[in-house]
Amino acid sequence: MKINGKEYRTIWFENKVVKIIDQTKLPHQFIIKDLKTVKDAINAIKVMEVRGAPLIGATAAYGLVLAIIENNDQSFLKKSSEDLIMSRPTAINLKWAVDRMMKKLSGVNSNEKLNIAIKEAQEICEEDIKFCENIGLNGLKLIQEIYNKKKSTVNILTHCNAGWLATINWGTATSPIYHAHKKGIPVHVWVDETRPRNQGANLTSYELNEEEIPNTIIADNTGGILMQRAEVDICIVGTDRTLANGDVCNKIGTYLKALAANDNKVPFYVALPSSTIDWDIKNFKDIPIEERNSEELSYIEGLDENNSLKKIQIYPKKSKAMNLAFDITPAKYVTGLITEKGICEASEKGLKKLYK
Ligand code: MRU
Repeated sequence: MKINGKEYRTIWFENKVVKIIDQTKLPHQFIIKDLKTVKDAINAIKVMEVRGAPLIGATAAYGLVLAIIENNDQSFLKKSSEDLIMSRPTAINLKWAVDRMMKKLSGVNSNEKLNIAIKEAQEICEEDIKFCENIGLNGLKLIQEIYNKKKSTVNILTHCNAGWLATINWGTATSPIYHAHKKGIPVHVWVDETRPRNQGANLTSYELNEEEIPNTIIADNTGGILMQRAEVDICIVGTDRTLANGDVCNKIGTYLKALAANDNKVPFYVALPSSTIDWDIKNFKDIPIEERNSEELSYIEGLDENNSLKKIQIYPKKSKAMNLAFDITPAKYVTGLITEKGICEASEKGLKKLYK
């Protein structure tokens, strides 16, 4: 998708270096950063220079490419794969991508390892783009149906950033929106600010602006009243891990939005590629929920009067704060899952119809 009118992907490989868009600096600064070592990749995931489930999976895949360039030794590769998986705990895509790379590299002789790793990391990215595009085409049908009935602007609410910046291109939750916009269907997006890191305001609104899609940032608590006023036609969010029973783990605050949607009979859809499905965990209580540094709550960064980036403390110095990064939306509150293979019920039966 576009930034300043130029097409970008969120990650690419060039001259033995992995290139990323540093998302900690958006929307105020557009900086392309080089990752040269596996440690750089691990750090980029941890500090969220790259974030979003599919993108951290792709970064981990390229992290293994960097590991092979640094030290083509099996024990270094194994240790790197373990460190990459541990860099963030909740999104299953990270483990999915590392396992896929390690499987591809198993038994390969050292001369061939690098080329095979580069090819597989590229394949993971190409596949994600294709899957996200298909999610868009499948989700487009839902927006089209609403428009056919309503004959006026379709209002979509989204949480966090499940946009192209969270994937390689297109996004998951945003892909149906981009497809609807390209088809000429008038859409408007309510963008949850998504405290504490403000991925909605800083990333989703930013990328929608760049594609000229009308959007309005709202405080995270605003969605409820908008739904009561019938100002939301559909909610579409992303996910970091979806269980085989249809329970959805996503950015903190998603659950409350799903409750409000259920109370107001607003359809609540979750968009995901199959790399985000965890077929093993049976109970949502077993999903590891990331708890991040509480300073992400008590400090905020923005532009000062001189247009310089500045970080300031906003809470009382003596107050404690807690920063859980994800929550669970039980399947009963999810109207449907929009996948690359089609739309299904959020249940084991629904998912198994699509994924034999
Ligand atoms: O903490 P983040 O910014 O990595 O969280 C991102 C989300 O919660 C997204 O909704 C999810 O990863 C889906 S991305 C297509």
